Amino acid sequence: MSEINIGLGNTDTETRRDAESDFVTFWGKQAKNLFWFSTWEKILDWNPPFAKWFVGGTINASYNTLDIHQQDKADKPAILWEGENGESRILTYKEMWIKVQKFTNILKSLGVKKGDRITIYLPMIPELPISMLACARIGAIHTVIFSGFSATSIRDRIDDSKSKIVITADGGYRRGNVIKLKEVIDEAIKDLDFVQNVIVVERAKNKINLSSKDMFWNELMNDVSDTCVAEKLDSSHPLYILYTSGTTGKPKGVLHGTGGYLTHLYSTFKWAFDIRDSDVFFCTADIGWVTGHSYVVYDPLLHGATQVMYEGAPDFPDASRMWEIIQKYHVTIFYTTPTTLRMFMKFGDSLPNSFDLSTLRLLGSVGEPINPEVWKWYFKVIGKEKCPIIDTWWQTETGGMMISALPGLETIPLKPGSGTRPIPGLDVSVVDESGNDVPENTKGFLVIKNPWPGMLLTLWGDDKKYRDVYWSKYKNCYYPGDYALKDADGYFWLLGRADDVLKVSGHRIGTAELESCIVSHSDVAESAVCGVSDEIKGEAIIAFVVLKQNVIKDHIILEKELLIKIRNDIGAIATPKQIYFVTKLPKTRSGKIMRRLLKAMSSNETIGDVSTLEDGTAVSEIQSVFDEIQKSIQKSN
Ligand code: WT7
Repeated sequence: MSEINIGLGNTDTETRRDAESDFVTFWGKQAKNLFWFSTWEKILDWNPPFAKWFVGGTINASYNTLDIHQQDKADKPAILWEGENGESRILTYKEMWIKVQKFTNILKSLGVKKGDRITIYLPMIPELPISMLACARIGAIHTVIFSGFSATSIRDRIDDSKSKIVITADGGYRRGNVIKLKEVIDEAIKDLDFVQNVIVVERAKNKINLSSKDMFWNELMNDVSDTCVAEKLDSSHPLYILYTSGTTGKPKGVLHGTGGYLTHLYSTFKWAFDIRDSDVFFCTADIGWVTGHSYVVYDPLLHGATQVMYEGAPDFPDASRMWEIIQKYHVTIFYTTPTTLRMFMKFGDSLPNSFDLSTLRLLGSVGEPINPEVWKWYFKVIGKEKCPIIDTWWQTETGGMMISALPGLETIPLKPGSGTRPIPGLDVSVVDESGNDVPENTKGFLVIKNPWPGMLLTLWGDDKKYRDVYWSKYKNCYYPGDYALKDADGYFWLLGRADDVLKVSGHRIGTAELESCIVSHSDVAESAVCGVSDEIKGEAIIAFVVLKQNVIKDHIILEKELLIKIRNDIGAIATPKQIYFVTKLPKTRSGKIMRRLLKAMSSNETIGDVSTLEDGTAVSEIQSVFDEIQKSIQKSN
């Protein structure tokens, strides 16, 4: 792969050297960039797999994102908000600060205390970061749910976190339609008596049903004090829970702390984005996902940056929306996903070429592997060959970026499709099944061998699962569940999930969760789902379904029923592209579905050893389905 020698001219060799000599002291030095009410006694208390960063230090995320800017940046825009329908709002650091203090006082008046959980189900409007920062101000733990999830998914999350307040909106805009969020919440909490209040932001002004629990945001904000002192919280005090799909069962609550998390964010924003006072940052992620938590809400505000926040679909009303926003707000740093880029690439170069994108100086990608040809298109057509591209690998669990080019720190050659190198302070390897380093250019499992400040504290209410999922495959190593290879220059290439998690348009979908949803349909006996490569989404879901004996229903009707069920139980993001009704699934003699086979067949790889297979006809049946898919792909090309 050809190299692209581009950088911003930064050469800070000291940071890497410090980190290599002693990563603990190194992170202690980085933490000093934040405001601490009291400093720590110990940088790291590492009791594997539990890390406590900056023990004894007290800090507040809301204070570090708002109060600290009131001297010199009070009138600087924090958020340049654009609604999908063309509305716009500008919120300065001072306005954000006042609104957050007011809303914190409202939460307090409703009896919210440190450690309480608050569920937030809002569209991408400024009230979303305001709510999060208000929670953080008093140490309430926010749990934001992506506005595309269904009532059942929300119910499970609210029930798991036992949130006593839910914040939502009457509606939100998506592709010109109003998504009725309040209706979904009404359905989700109907039997959850512990939910005391629902605070409703009026965004779409659509009709909603009101109950005695409901209160309106604006009415509450009209009559409340605008000063509220930020609580001095322990560095490890939980900041938020974010639910994410895994290999088993229901989504798990990733729990992040405060001091370590903010330190990780502060440093990565500086190193990766080379953030400057004059920048206009634009990250297209929804705040319902971790990228939005870290790189829309907390990190830009920690740095006192100005950012664009956009409410709706990236291609609404048409595929020039992002380019129009970049031109309109003079965006300098743009951070998006490969799926979004693949979609734009399909529309050709003339659309982006008809906008002035000359303010851009740095481009980022996140969430899934970026194909080299998409990388090159991004570099050439959007960045006009002058903007470095950072391909940032990380996860909900890692809190912030882990592998990325860092133009704010150093100038190194870029290779399209490689995340380049780990951030300073990390010991990352690629290993085989037994944990031995694999030779260079060999595919293996990515592992992280030491703790880092942004790492999750645990899984909400489940320390055992935390240990089992991330720290049991390899002793004292964090296992992210990704394949990778390291080349001769020490560059990492991330090669997709190694476990039973799919990445559809960059969103994580657990196969087990989806299968158990399908199997809960009364006509279904068994199911197996897997990913097939998709030109735009990266991966698309296909599902194999074995029906119960004597089911004579039409497959078209059954397919419809299953699709509705999946949308209702999980959400539209989990919708399979295709459902195949088969008579058997490939299983081992002990009855486990051999997903490895489904995966291999779906990517046209050789099937390998099938001697443990219970019934060889299942393989040939499924192989013929894949052959059909392959044929239809070839036909359409
Ligand atoms: C999984 C984490 C990163 C925050 C948003 C997604 C995949 C993420 C990359 C990348 C290749 C990537 C991995 C990872 N992934 N970024 N730059 N190149 N793969 O967070 O939903 O927790 O998903 O996304 O498979 O494990 P997430």
